[in-house]
Amino acid sequence: MSTRKTIAVIPGDGIGKEVIPQAVKVIEATGVPVDLTYFDWGADRYLKDGTTVPPDGFEILARDFDAILVGAFGDPRVPSNIHAKEILLGMRFKMDLYANVRPVRLLDASLCPLKGMEPKDIDFVVIRENTEGPYVDRGSITDKGTEDEVAIQEDVNTYKGVLRIIRYAFEYCAHNKKADGTPRARVLMCDKSNAMTYAGGLWQRVFKELSGEYPQIKSEHMYVDALCAQMVRDPRQFDVIVTNNMFGDIITDLAAGLQGGLGMAASGNIHPGRTSMFEPVHGSAPPLAGKNIANPMGAILTAAMMLRHLGFSREARRIEAEVLDAIRQKRTTQDIGGAMGTSELGDWIAKSKFIAHVGDPDFHDGAIIRVTSEADQLLVEIEGFSGAQFSVRFDGVKSVFSHKPEDMTIDALVEMEAPPPSRRFVFTNSYEPEDEGGDAYLDITAENLSVKKV
Ligand code: NAD
Ligand code: IPM
Ligand code: MN
Repeated sequence: MSTRKTIAVIPGDGIGKEVIPQAVKVIEATGVPVDLTYFDWGADRYLKDGTTVPPDGFEILARDFDAILVGAFGDPRVPSNIHAKEILLGMRFKMDLYANVRPVRLLDASLCPLKGMEPKDIDFVVIRENTEGPYVDRGSITDKGTEDEVAIQEDVNTYKGVLRIIRYAFEYCAHNKKADGTPRARVLMCDKSNAMTYAGGLWQRVFKELSGEYPQIKSEHMYVDALCAQMVRDPRQFDVIVTNNMFGDIITDLAAGLQGGLGMAASGNIHPGRTSMFEPVHGSAPPLAGKNIANPMGAILTAAMMLRHLGFSREARRIEAEVLDAIRQKRTTQDIGGAMGTSELGDWIAKSKFIAHVGDPDFHDGAIIRVTSEADQLLVEIEGFSGAQFSVRFDGVKSVFSHKPEDMTIDALVEMEAPPPSRRFVFTNSYEPEDEGGDAYLDITAENLSVKKV
């Protein structure tokens, strides 16, 4: 079994305080060995005692935690947004979390505002530089308040900063597959080098330099304005996009729209080998706060991303499968057409409990050898990782949905909610980004099951 991991949880402001508890419920429901510690950083704390980040705050996070789970920062009572700057941008900059990884995945066709898009069509990732650009907030104002006022906002791009983020994108492309198991193959660099020639020139040169090191990966380029148009015209063309801090911010809100809106989008702020931070892409949405209507799926998918980063890919996959199941069953919040409350949806997703180790721990990483049926029985024969065989018999079968079940590698048997006396069992696919394939499934509604080692 994996060793325990420690997670710092910072819900923050507004809907951050509502969606993060749902992500935590779901993490806990998986039974993953983690210890959570809460931090009250955010607007309330700032308004109470003036603290944004306590002394040594970032050192504590980096030293004592394996990962950080964050909600959002932003509160109308703090118009300067100083706490958000010091906490959120503080973590990104001071902990040097240079790669902001924002996956853009359409989970279900019903969520996409574009006609005819299927999940296989939208599965790309934006790698956003996270420590430079105009976000360093360097600049000056002269002649303030006069007609001669000039405000200068500097866009800082260092060779080392540009090099490491573009390298991250190529490495990401080389080592990650799409959800359907096909390899990633293209890195597209997005800039505005036709107008911003100093910064753009550096990005162009570094991109060219690194492209040569990855001959197996196709390198492409688009200006950011053209990219925005393409993203809504035909997002199927994108694979890995690498860009600077500000363009990355903007295009990932646009890309969130393709996935069903800001409530669906997840992200990780990563420095390989260091304590990394995970947060939904959305903000604190003050108009939604306190109403139990915010969509928790972005935060829940962010939790899955964090668990995968910590080595718990099985639990991450399970969470993703449960979110997808909720979408398919129209168990959603109102932003994507449902009627559930934030907290009720969190409960529902967390309730799809996992039947661990049915019969034997060896049941994990097994493969389905044969599926046979007779009258209202279904027999699933499984070979475990060690070669041991199991037969799982379902009685009183009402329905079976399956796709290539006999080629399927399984890692778990999950029980989903079903109206009693029916029970619903789903074999989850042990798809890993590094593995081949991944779209097989076997979903059975029956009255009972029994497991025998044969
Ligand atoms: P926002 O992401 O909070 O909201 C933008 C729109 O998306 C709103 O219409 C909102 O209702 C909707 N939305 C966002 N999350 C949703 C969810 N989970 N479910 C349903 N609908 C959702 O962005 P904003 O309105 O521009 O900013 C509000 C505050 O959040 C500001 O203070 C901003 O600075 C801050 N902010 C913080 C972060 C962060 O901490 N990571 C990110 C973005 C914005
Ligand atoms: C995001 C947010 C932040 C950003 C804000 C709150 C500073 O929009 O995480 O996308 O611009 O990076
Ligand atoms: Mn943003």
